[in-house]
Parts: sequence; structure tokens; C-alpha cells
Amino acid sequence: MGRPERSAVVGKRGAARARSGHPWIYRSDVAEATGEPGDIVPVFDRAGSFLGRAFYNPGSEISLRIAERGDEPIDEHWFRDKIQHALAYRASLEIDGDAYRILHAEADGVPGLVVDRYGDHLVLQVGSAAVERRLEWVVRALGELLSPVGILLRGDSASRKHEGLDTGVRTLAGEVPETVVVREGPVRYEADLWRGQKTGSFLDQRENHLAAGMYSSGRVLDVFSYAGGFALHAAYHAAEVEVVDSSGPALKAARRNAQINGLSNIAFTRARAFDLLRERSDAGEGYDMVVLDPPAFAKTRRDLSRARRAYKEINLRAMKLLIPGGVLLTCSCSYHFSRELFEDTLRSAAADAGRKMRVHEWRGQAADHPEVLTIPETCYLKCAVLECV
Ligand SMILES: C[S@@+](CC[C@H](N)C(=O)[O-])C[C@H]1O[C@@H](n2cnc3c(N)ncnc32)[C@H](O)[C@@H]1O
Repeated sequence: MGRPERSAVVGKRGAARARSGHPWIYRSDVAEATGEPGDIVPVFDRAGSFLGRAFYNPGSEISLRIAERGDEPIDEHWFRDKIQHALAYRASLEIDGDAYRILHAEADGVPGLVVDRYGDHLVLQVGSAAVERRLEWVVRALGELLSPVGILLRGDSASRKHEGLDTGVRTLAGEVPETVVVREGPVRYEADLWRGQKTGSFLDQRENHLAAGMYSSGRVLDVFSYAGGFALHAAYHAAEVEVVDSSGPALKAARRNAQINGLSNIAFTRARAFDLLRERSDAGEGYDMVVLDPPAFAKTRRDLSRARRAYKEINLRAMKLLIPGGVLLTCSCSYHFSRELFEDTLRSAAADAGRKMRVHEWRGQAADHPEVLTIPETCYLKCAVLECV
């Protein structure tokens, strides 16, 4: 029996990768392929063995994303089934809040599709031409299963350009206001669904935000605060909290969020984090807790040594700012900056700062952003909680 008209054959490396459980096959590992961007094609190795069905886009660096390894056709029922499974998993988490990730792309079996819930609204990110072409199915399934008031497509992420998809933000169903107020444990906050970072908030930090509340006391400094994700929780437990961010809109949002929660113990400082941390540590200031949640310093492997210097600098300064018993909650969201490298950088920072730091715990991304063992890219967020002893 010949191969179907639209199909792909992958070389040895691509086949080995597929068999290892990873869904991505790079363009350079595709031996032959026929089809249009957005097609779903069967994938074979050179010997003709079937490896799965993949979302195909010849223009993308990741030309094949294997979505199904069995015989099941990828149709409207398939998408609905994946969404239903993803919802069942979130229900099992018993999340204390109404803003969280419903579907985490490859980790929930749908490459290139992210669905976030913000109360009665859903925000989608689509980074695959195959999903984009079948958005109607996704929207219909979400409508039937969740009855959202509105569904928004955040098409403004850089990854869409690589897939040859247009960039823009548009409503896919119902109505979506600019902002919505949602709940995360005891905290309520406003998420800017149309223009905010990611889909409106850093949902992957949800559990770390809650943990920060439990570690907070006295005087807290939340550096790289965005809209106050950590600070709001800290302010329920600490005497005074200061948020620091270089973005004016982020601080404006943090101020509004403090008001929404009736918190008057938060100060708002617009500054470059590196300068502020150096100035404060040179001035001999002391804090009971410092939070560091910088943007990804290593976006690619090439950035690693620069990123290491940056992570070391901010962590060294933060450690110096802690009073005895003070806690450092420090994060890295760079996938390329491994947990080992981050740990080693923190070790070196502690040595140079002359601080003995006891490890309370190592944390990661919230459980609604699941990791898959065979897809290392699904594990990117590191969060260490260290006590100065
Ligand atoms: C990962 S986000 C922080 C998310 C936030 N901690 C939360 O949990 O919601 C990083 C933040 O760092 C800010 N930022 C980036 N570079 C900065 C710099 N050099 N100094 C201060 N803030 C910076 C960005 O504006 C952004 O709000």
C-alpha cells in the first residue's frame, strides 16, 4: 500500500525523537513531505513505519508537531475530547480561584493551543497553523463545555510569526471587556486580557504567589512585580511591601490591584531593578523577604553566559538585603537556564554575598501548567525559596 498523498517521512533523528515521546520534528529532520501549511498529515519513518499524525507547517522551524500516535482521526470530536480531558484534570486540582490555565498546549495533547480562563472569559493563544484552521471546532467545544461570556484570541505572540500566522487580538465569540477582576486565593486582581503580558496575567506563578503569602512578614521587597502578583499576597501578611518594576502600566495596574483588595501597605517604585538592588544593598537596607521574578534572561542558548551574570547579580544583591531569618523567593522562567544552572548560580551568589542560605523548597510552575517528562520544554519555571540563616 502506498503512502497517502499528503504525508511526511522523517529521517533517523526525527524518528528517534518521535519515538522518545517528543512531539516536535524540526524542518531539518523531515526527509520528504507533501501538504499545505495547517494540514494534518500521517508521519512515517524511512522504513514506512507509522509514527503518528502531525500538525504540518513547512514554513515553521518545527515543521511537524505530532498530535496523535494512534489510529484516531484528528477531527472535531478529537479536539473536544482533548479539551474535556484537560478540564477534568483542572477540576481534579480543586483550584482556589477562577483564573487558571485550562489547556497547556503540548502538555495537554494539543500542540500550539493555550486556553486560559479568567472568570467567565476565555483567552486563547494559537501558535500552530493547523489549530488556527480548526479554530471553529475549538470555539464550539469551549462554548458547549464552559458557556463562556466571551472568547478572545491573543494573536500577538511572536511565535505566530514563525508559523506564518497574522498577529492581532480579536474576539472569537461573545464579548470580552478590556479587563476583568478575578480571584487567586484571598486576592482579587484585575487582568488586562487585551493588552496585558501573556494572556493577561502570570498564571504559571499562581501557586508561588500563594506560597509567597505564607512566607511573608515584616518588610517585603517585590522586584519585577508586574501588577503585584506576589506583593498582593505578601501584603496580607507583612507590615509593608514595596513593588518595583520598570514599566509604568505595570505599576498602575499594581496600584489598582492594591485598591481592589483594600491594601494600604504597598508602595510603588518605578525603577530599573539592577540599579535599585545595588543602591539599596550599598545603603545597607534590610528586608524580611525579597521576591525576584525577572523576565527570561536567556531566551536562547546563546544568551546563557550573559543570563548567568544577570541572575547572579540580582540574587547576590537580594541576599545581601536580607536580615537574618529573611527569605528570598527567586525565580527563573528561562527554559534554557536549567534548574542545575540556576542552582549553581544561586550557590555562587550566596558565596560572594557571604550569606548562608538554607533551602526551604524548590518550586515550579503551577499544576495547571503541567510538565511532561518526555517534553523538556514544558518544564521552564524554577522557583527557589531560601532563608538567610
Ligand atoms: C515575569 S514578569 C513579573 C511577573 C510578576 N512577578 C507576577 O508574578 O505577576 C517580569 C516583570 O519585570 C519587569 N522588568 C523587566 N525588566 C526590568 C528591569 N530591568 N527592571 C525592573 N523591572 C523590569 C517587566 O516590566 C515585567 O513586569
